[in-house]
Amino acid sequence: MKARLTIALLLGVASMSATCANSAEMAKAMEKKSFGTTPDGKTADLYTLTNKNGMQVAITNYGGAIVSIIVPDKNGKLGDVVLGYDTLDGYVTDKNYFGALIGRYGNRIGNAQFKIDGITYTLAKNNGKNSLHGGIKGFNKALWDAKDISRNGEPALELKYTSKDGEEGFPGNLSVTVVYTLTNKNELKIDYSATTDKKTVVNLTNHSYFNLSGPGSGDILKSVLRVNADKFTPVDSDLIPTGELKSVAGTPFDFREPTEIGARIDSDDEQLKLGKGYDHNFVLNKEKPAGLSLAARVEDPASGRVLEVWTTEPGVQFYTANFLDGSVHGKGGIAYGKRTAFCLETQHFPDSPNKPSFPSVLLSPGQKYHTTTVYKFATK
Ligand code: GLA
Repeated sequence: MKARLTIALLLGVASMSATCANSAEMAKAMEKKSFGTTPDGKTADLYTLTNKNGMQVAITNYGGAIVSIIVPDKNGKLGDVVLGYDTLDGYVTDKNYFGALIGRYGNRIGNAQFKIDGITYTLAKNNGKNSLHGGIKGFNKALWDAKDISRNGEPALELKYTSKDGEEGFPGNLSVTVVYTLTNKNELKIDYSATTDKKTVVNLTNHSYFNLSGPGSGDILKSVLRVNADKFTPVDSDLIPTGELKSVAGTPFDFREPTEIGARIDSDDEQLKLGKGYDHNFVLNKEKPAGLSLAARVEDPASGRVLEVWTTEPGVQFYTANFLDGSVHGKGGIAYGKRTAFCLETQHFPDSPNKPSFPSVLLSPGQKYHTTTVYKFATK
């Protein structure tokens, strides 16, 4: 009921903005409202970005989380395509990272330890003996400073957070800026930037869970995936990469041709057993090492929605929500079951700080970290 009301309100805003002709009214492309109070008494807000096609993205500055992405299906009907919660409390207690910004280091660091210049840094352990997604209180639990920086008729939200030297064990004060831009081509563009005052490691990503037929529509096994990767990084039983870059040829990790996500997910493959499904980093094929290139494309035959992921990053974690088990209830009270969503987390490879052969995640004072990822929506 609540979800329906939210959607009705959002649709109302969409039709209002569709009638906006001049630039003064375009300011409505960004709406801000209170999303609730954090456990330490601060107000978190919800920002709704609307483009000229009526596509809407709602983002909270709590954890920088994407709360909803509302896009048309093949019949032009608008609907939400990401899992999440109706209220701030959901995000405060969340353990699945729904929609959240992930840092300082997205994915795992083995034994929660790494060395820089011979100094060992010990991190908070929050995944067995390993560090996952930034530690116990990662960037997904921080309240970010938000600013409307919309320009050229496109809504843009800037989020800033300073992670203190020693936070979760990481060295250096890290100043992070993330900009979410909703373009009029139905793209959600995320620009991540950071600088540090001491050598550190950085790997920022977003952890949206997509279901192109909408949360609550069942599993995503019939969605058709293409991943632009000839290789992936096999893992051990802790989901830490072994260091090998393995060819996808002849394995269930070969998504070079469009293939249903569920086609091979329960096959007798050691890597799939370790991940309880897909929970692996793919080594992206790059035409231009520095520019944006296609990482993945997903087509949902039921809704006709298509998602393309473009990134400057060298890798993408494809995760089929194997750890969801129906115990978490999200938007509209829907129980989120196993494999009812997929994540495509653009990133540097997991455990890179301990794998000298992987692309480096080191950031030094004077350098600027900058990566871009674009989630582009269309219909077919
Ligand atoms: C990532 C990890 C998974 C899991 C999810 C969050 O995708 O690779 O193993 O931890 O985040 O539940």
